[in-house]
Amino acid sequence: MGLRFLRNGLLGLYLQRHHQHIMQVDTGFTFILFGGTGDLAMRKILPSLYQAHCGGLLPTAGRIAAVARGLSNREAYVQWMHTHVRNHVKLAGDDASWNDFLKRILFVRVDLGRPEDYALLRDIISPLSGIRVFYLATRPSLFVPICRALSTMGLSNDARIVLEKPLGYDLQSSNTINDAVGEIFVESHIYRIDHYLGKEPVQNLLALRFGNALFEPLWRREWVESIQITIAEELGVEGRGDFYDNTGALRDMVQNHLLQLLSIVAMEPPHSMHTNALRDEKLRVLRALKPIKPCDISRIAVRGQYHMGVLNGITVPAYVNERGVSTSSMTETFVALKVEIENWRWAGVPFFLRTGKRLANRVAEIVVNFRAVPHSVFGSMALRNGSNRLVIRLQPNEFIRLYCLAKQPGEGMNLQSVHLDLAFDEFFQKDRMEAYQRLLLDVINGRLALFVHRDEQEAAWQWVEPILAEWNRLGTAPRRYAAGTWGPAAASALLARHGTCWLEEEN
Ligand code: BG6
Repeated sequence: MGLRFLRNGLLGLYLQRHHQHIMQVDTGFTFILFGGTGDLAMRKILPSLYQAHCGGLLPTAGRIAAVARGLSNREAYVQWMHTHVRNHVKLAGDDASWNDFLKRILFVRVDLGRPEDYALLRDIISPLSGIRVFYLATRPSLFVPICRALSTMGLSNDARIVLEKPLGYDLQSSNTINDAVGEIFVESHIYRIDHYLGKEPVQNLLALRFGNALFEPLWRREWVESIQITIAEELGVEGRGDFYDNTGALRDMVQNHLLQLLSIVAMEPPHSMHTNALRDEKLRVLRALKPIKPCDISRIAVRGQYHMGVLNGITVPAYVNERGVSTSSMTETFVALKVEIENWRWAGVPFFLRTGKRLANRVAEIVVNFRAVPHSVFGSMALRNGSNRLVIRLQPNEFIRLYCLAKQPGEGMNLQSVHLDLAFDEFFQKDRMEAYQRLLLDVINGRLALFVHRDEQEAAWQWVEPILAEWNRLGTAPRRYAAGTWGPAAASALLARHGTCWLEEEN
């Protein structure tokens, strides 16, 4: 017994120390990147793979086969990587590691509309052993044709497939894609990316909620007055006008990122951190979202569109003057919503969701406002909801801040809002792993927990669709807001009706 314990302990220690080395000699992989010269490949996927390579986190035998039709050969692709990818790497390694990384790169010229081109891909990747990952960083309209071509060529067996968002345009189109992909790949091999789930602070939210007993008793309707979730961007549509004008903020951010954050904030404690345990609890929240009635939409949903304004001292054009956007566009670049969850924990607690482009600040945060004391012995200050508040800042700087009331020093008994702070950068003093890097490593290592199950996606579309349908039926223009502000005034009124305000309006 003692000997076995000692042996297991030593083995554990060995594995811990040599984890990196073991990962490197582990089975290889082939990562086939469709959309190899696209924006996402350039800004996120290739830089993240390179970062993982520099950290010794990629198996040595791993290859990356970029698929694109715009370049003629590998040499041209490597040149393209030099000029377009390297400057997007946050922690640039040295030339030797970059050149080492390039050895992993293969290039296949495929016109995705020509099934015969896939034979070339088959000839290149068939001899390669190990796990096969297909990453579809393409337009969603290509997802099904690509999967069918892979199946015809016999390349899909046992392979993993990664689908980028947006997966469809509405419930029906997302079901069409999921059905067709599901005929070729089993659900446990389908990785639907929502990069918000890969962000370190989102994982920290799980740690905060389920690693500490402190908050759990308070995390419910009896103690929580309201919750705000904001993803605000300073950026506009950044050369994606064509795509965005057909999408809008509700599809681009609410249906996925915001509802995923909401489900993590509101979920019941899972019985473990295993994939299905987490996904099942998130799904329960999505299914418990109070359905929105068309007659309520104007009261609980605000849609806006930015016009010209000043952001960080620079005048930026109106949305309708962005490249690729129709000058008469009615697409929303801002959404604020009041959401309710119909279960015992949350009944009656408003969740306010908000996202927008060209807002005053880039910030993503969750604000939990706790109820005021039932009776104040210190005057009205202590009776304000939100005197106790937990702010979980996801970006740009990561922190958790707990607001309380404290006595001001000196004579009298005057209370003031103060806060306890945990700034993760200062505390850990360690570089954070980018969301894409974490998620790509998860795909290669077969970890599905941070990917979205088909059922979650369906539930999210089901909830979002009546809003889209009603906006469409009404045909009214979104409310205008100046770039560089916090969106239309109606978004403030939405909270004011519940006796509260957005965090930045507090002071
Ligand atoms: C993407 C959206 O999913 O998320 C973009 O399509 C948006 O429009 C982006 O800009 C925001 O992500 P992040 O990580 O920069 O907050």
